Amino acid sequence: MISELEKVPVILRNFGLAADSCTTTVLHSGHINSTLKVDFTFKGENKSVILQRVNTYVFQNPIGIMNNIDLVTRHIRRKLIADGVDPKGRVLEFIPNVEGQNYFFEDRDNFWRAYWYVENTVTYDKAEDLRVLQNAGRAFGLFQHQLADLPMHLLVDTMPGFHDTRRRMENFFAAAERDEAGRRKNIEEEIRLLRENEPVWKQLGVLRAEGFLPLRVTHNDTKYNNILIDKNSGEAVCVIDLDTVTPGLCAYDFGDAIRFAANFAAEDEKDLSKVGLNLEAYEAFASGFVSECRTFCSREELESLAIGAVTITFELAARFLEDYLNGDKYFRVAHPEHNLERGRSQLALALDMKEKIAQMQQINRKYYE
Ligand SMILES: Nc1ncnc2c1ncn2[C@@H]1O[C@H](COP(=O)(O)OP(=O)(O)OP(=O)(O)O)[C@@H](O)[C@H]1O
Ligand SMILES: [Mg+2]
Repeated sequence: MISELEKVPVILRNFGLAADSCTTTVLHSGHINSTLKVDFTFKGENKSVILQRVNTYVFQNPIGIMNNIDLVTRHIRRKLIADGVDPKGRVLEFIPNVEGQNYFFEDRDNFWRAYWYVENTVTYDKAEDLRVLQNAGRAFGLFQHQLADLPMHLLVDTMPGFHDTRRRMENFFAAAERDEAGRRKNIEEEIRLLRENEPVWKQLGVLRAEGFLPLRVTHNDTKYNNILIDKNSGEAVCVIDLDTVTPGLCAYDFGDAIRFAANFAAEDEKDLSKVGLNLEAYEAFASGFVSECRTFCSREELESLAIGAVTITFELAARFLEDYLNGDKYFRVAHPEHNLERGRSQLALALDMKEKIAQMQQINRKYYE
């Protein structure tokens, strides 16, 4: 089998990129995508691109995804130019293939895309610097702001029901009934807690169903490491990883970012006494995000942001625990108890967030009242 690295010259040519020589570095070879950085020279000029192979098992509608990415990146670029900002490095710039599409379908399993590498930036997995975290909040808020007037009907719903919390919970309770892997006995307490907290985790869905919260263009993977940060200034310059852009609620993007970046511990921390919402980190992110969103979001939406954090965290706890009950079929596990640990850890975080919801709301209000 030809390795990804050997294919690089052919892929470059398909994107109309001529190279006299090239060097490839594997930036990330996760279980979702493979990300390669290719530095090449052509007629004495040095250039760098990112080539990404998309996992077509996880993303079953890659063309829908690329349609959304095209709309979103063009829209942001237009906004930046209208505001007098040079868009270079501020929004991902995809390179069309020789047939004018923003992807190259090599074969069923190999779906490629290419975009320019943004120089002088880094990504962080852990949020240690509060100022950078505030910048990240502002960048994700700005992303929402820039897209607030993108006609929603143009977007393909590439992940229908992704945050249908009620359905996610029903799936979890059904998995507990089936008890396929014989593991239910280990999580009776977690099942009880998820049932008991139904009034908390169903709240956002109720607000959505009652029409209080508009659908917006959401990123849906607002992890801290999906923002390029300027190496020197710490400014958050560009939102990346746009595969999951689809219609959703503003509270989903806010909530998932908080779940990831404002936890005292890692997502799969075993020692539950270490897990909890770090209000200092919360405020840093929220101050940036809310300051951007206050100009276009309704009062109800702004009030829903903190609820989003609790909901998303309960939801993910149930997804990890469901996979544990089903015998670890969806999430990749490092060891047999991994989904159990992740589920318990997220549940502990959700319960702590529930206790702190009034404080979260109070912090948010400081930035929109
Ligand atoms: N245009 C770019 N310029 C500079 N670095 C980039 C660029 N795009 C991606 N990177 C780097 O590559 C890393 C991986 O990219 P990306 O987040 O798109 O995919 P991914 O996280 O590997 O996907 P997943 O984890 O969902 O499988 C980023 O964290 C970042 O460090
Ligand atoms: Mg990423």
